[in-house]
Amino acid sequence: MPYLTVEGTRLHYREAGSGDPPLLLLHAFPLHSGMWQAQLAGLSDRVRLVAPDLKGFGASDAPDDRDAYSVAGYADEVAALIDQLGLARVVVAGLSMGGYVALAFWRRHRARVSALVLADTRAEPDGPEALERRTNQQRQVAEEGTAGLIDQLLDGLLAEATHRERPELVEQARGLMDNPPAGFIGALEAMKGRPDSTADLDGIDVPTLVLVGRDDGITSPEVAQDLHVRIAGSRLAVLPDAAHLSNLEAPEAFNVALRRFLDDL
Ligand code: MLT
Repeated sequence: MPYLTVEGTRLHYREAGSGDPPLLLLHAFPLHSGMWQAQLAGLSDRVRLVAPDLKGFGASDAPDDRDAYSVAGYADEVAALIDQLGLARVVVAGLSMGGYVALAFWRRHRARVSALVLADTRAEPDGPEALERRTNQQRQVAEEGTAGLIDQLLDGLLAEATHRERPELVEQARGLMDNPPAGFIGALEAMKGRPDSTADLDGIDVPTLVLVGRDDGITSPEVAQDLHVRIAGSRLAVLPDAAHLSNLEAPEAFNVALRRFLDDL
């Protein structure tokens, strides 16, 4: 398994394929880079793909100090990782929390971004309700571990039909959430502290694809439509048979949308 040490943190990453433009895949909360397996397999004939485990997830280091985590820090760590891999510019694709990191990456390292893919994500920061919910989730994980929170989150991340008809996919998603409690608590802290990215949307001048699952109840198609309207020249793809984890629930449609986008760059 490949690892690189960046800014004192050992990060694990997955990679596949070869060819330009390289595609960087940033995972959702509270999953790890394994969620991109279908993209790593399905697009490796077309481009080089790199999917890191953000700090606190998968096989990357998971420091106990919650203040060691921020969305800006994730973006800087990923920028340092692609430096070490010798990648000057990448297509940055992030799903949900990965999208928050992609927007921070754009803000902090825009010369390194050849295009953006924003999947099931939003530019707005947390409001008071979300902040309170995340603080309660941090307490829950600190006191009881992650299993109860994983059960609660799974309900909203996947479509009702997936829960009813595809139990193996629900179990796959549960497995991808088997991450250290410190990573959960740190990522919740990072998301609580993330800045408002809406003012950045006007200035995005690289090709951008906005993707969303039609049944996404966390970042709805209306939220995606709003991103699409605010990012000049962006494309929008709404994927049927998918909720929030659209790349897991509709991997083929997700890959078709990505491949078309890459072909047109
Ligand atoms: C995610 O899928 O990454 C989360 O839903 C993001 C969030 O909790 O805001």
